[in-house]
Amino acid sequence: MMRVVWTTDIHLNFLQPHERADFYVAIQNYQPDAVFISGDIAEAPSLRDLLHEMQCAIDRPFYFVLGNHDFYHASIETVRREIEDWGLTQSGLIYLSTSGLIALTPQTALIGHDGWGDGRLGNYQQSPVRLSDQALIRDFQGLDRDAVLAKLQALGEASAASLRDVLTQAVDSYQQIVCLTHVPPFKEACWYEGKVGNDDWLPYFTCHAIGEVLLEMAHAHPDCQLTVLCGHTHHAGTVQMLPNLLVKTGSAEYGQPHLEDILMIE
Ligand SMILES: [Fe+2]
Ligand SMILES: [Fe+2]
Repeated sequence: MMRVVWTTDIHLNFLQPHERADFYVAIQNYQPDAVFISGDIAEAPSLRDLLHEMQCAIDRPFYFVLGNHDFYHASIETVRREIEDWGLTQSGLIYLSTSGLIALTPQTALIGHDGWGDGRLGNYQQSPVRLSDQALIRDFQGLDRDAVLAKLQALGEASAASLRDVLTQAVDSYQQIVCLTHVPPFKEACWYEGKVGNDDWLPYFTCHAIGEVLLEMAHAHPDCQLTVLCGHTHHAGTVQMLPNLLVKTGSAEYGQPHLEDILMIE
């Protein structure tokens, strides 16, 4: 049995050093065997230092994916490559988007990918919503509305394809699969103040491409239990999409990171 602390959208760059230290102690007090983080850890310029600081303080393996904020002031590909290369030299920091399947226990596999709000649900064309992503992530700068949508869709599809590969391996050998991803994969998992997101926010708050892969794989493997842990909307909720597909969305508040859940993994 493994005891895991799950936390999401911790945005460490908004905290003073003593606030970060208090947060690390709060996690340590639960004496976890591992820590899961489902993205929005910091922003690109501070991401490595803050992740390293947190992992050194807690001194347990960290399994994580990245969120949109983690790419701010840089490009997506650059950050992903840097974190992959750097993670290979750091023991205990495992970036799930590039690590492949992790055997947590003989029964349970851990997989994950960043995901992206892929513009496919809700009404992108009519939505007045603009995320800071489009100004602060290089990939989007200078793109018109249609080009942004094409980029969002391509990012979602690439995440889904990567997740499909690793999920295909996992379903053959494990009864339980835990999947970490930043963006909720379903409208039903896109909580906002106790309700599911509306058509203006859904394009940015759901990764439909990943949702399709999860539904297809869960349907095809009814004996395999899938638990998805995500964040991004900063509002919590749980939805049972299928008898064997559970999605938990974590809450968050800027400047006040907290533990979302303690998971006991067999
Ligand atoms: Fe966030
Ligand atoms: Fe986010």
